[in-house]
Amino acid sequence: MKILVIGQGGREHALAWKLRQSPLCQELIISPGNGGSGALGENVDLDISKHEHIIDLINERQINMVVIGPEAPLANGLADIIRMKNPDTMVIGPGKIGAQLEASKAFAKIFMQRNNIPTARYLTVRASDFQKGLAHIENMRAPIVLKADGLAAGKGVIICNSHDEAKRTLRTMLDGQFGEASAQVVIEEFLAGREYSVFVLTDGKDYYLLPEAKDYKRIGEGDNGLNTGGMGAVSPVSYVDDNLRLKTIEQVIRPTLSGLRNEGIDYVGFIFFGMIEVNGDPFVIEYNCRLGDPETEVVLPRIKSDLLKHMIDTAKGQINSSDLEVSSQTCSTVMLVSGGYPLAYEKGKKIEGLSLVKDALLFHAGTKRIDEEILTNGGRVLAITNLGEDTNEALKKCYEDIESIYFEKQYYRTDIGFDL
Ligand code: AMP
Ligand code: GLY
Repeated sequence: MKILVIGQGGREHALAWKLRQSPLCQELIISPGNGGSGALGENVDLDISKHEHIIDLINERQINMVVIGPEAPLANGLADIIRMKNPDTMVIGPGKIGAQLEASKAFAKIFMQRNNIPTARYLTVRASDFQKGLAHIENMRAPIVLKADGLAAGKGVIICNSHDEAKRTLRTMLDGQFGEASAQVVIEEFLAGREYSVFVLTDGKDYYLLPEAKDYKRIGEGDNGLNTGGMGAVSPVSYVDDNLRLKTIEQVIRPTLSGLRNEGIDYVGFIFFGMIEVNGDPFVIEYNCRLGDPETEVVLPRIKSDLLKHMIDTAKGQINSSDLEVSSQTCSTVMLVSGGYPLAYEKGKKIEGLSLVKDALLFHAGTKRIDEEILTNGGRVLAITNLGEDTNEALKKCYEDIESIYFEKQYYRTDIGFDL
């Protein structure tokens, strides 16, 4: 089979790494790819926001399957266009309407309410009901969570510690702090608990339940400071026991899939459930219509069976969930990032020592290859990933391996997994 992976992060490098291992994979293209993915297949540098370029590539190279990594092309309807123009090409990723689970928090909240899926209580407001929003805030307990409705590159959630702060923030958001994305704002009650993420690959009817994971979102040690795309991740998550997993399946995963079906939304692809456990019960914090980054980097190494086979069965509507084999080993990843990230940072720094790394799987995120050199090309640069018998062993190897790598102004958190 000829496969095209869309995207350029650590998630897409990890997908390429896993798909390459399948005997069913004859040709692999990653577009645009990064400095690591080119060693697994062919990087094709395209502007992936131009759907017609992707259709041309699919036709020229006779692609059999397209796996869409990031949310933006999904929210823009790339999967619909491929399915319409190339009905014989399998696509892993939902259409525009399914992607609304992530692209509109207001949509996701109404969907959960309609389908009795546990989530925080909320009110959605527009500028025209600002006064109603203020009155609602007045009746809540702080902290108060405000969420821009649309995609805001992971920055659209603000947790306000006081009523005054929440009222001011509501005004700023409705006034366009996140552009069109905050024309509607979800005001939500704060849930205190432990976060975890679960992932399914679904054909809209059946699903494969992938290993769960936890990511560390803040830039600073102890999970403090600015939000990032993710500074590290672990899988499994010690407090996700059989009981919590079962409740998550019964109260969240199954009702989500039956909700999609009942509402006539065809969904083929991944669903990432951002969860929080409150007094032993699961609540949904957010849906994503794709895999997570860096969660993918710890989830895929734990899958022993052939992911490409599972994707083919998914695209054909022939899922057999017991085919998925998961390793009992644990996996951890630590993100090496550019100094300054998530604010301004420099690119183009030469990365040294990659060949000295002993154990780690090195998933490239923001890198590019120029001749024989690998240069930094983004905020999150490399996901240093290891398997181990337990989280400590896996993390210890990550931190040993990270010592071999150097680029100017590099930074990483030394406390991934600190809370487990
Ligand atoms: P999101 O972009 O929806 O993943 O939200 C970013 C982060 O904000 C989450 O990972 C949580 O840590 C936090 N968060 C979002 N919603 C809530 C909530 N209702 N209660 C507590 N924390 C929340
Ligand atoms: N690591 C969080 C995300 O991929 O959205």
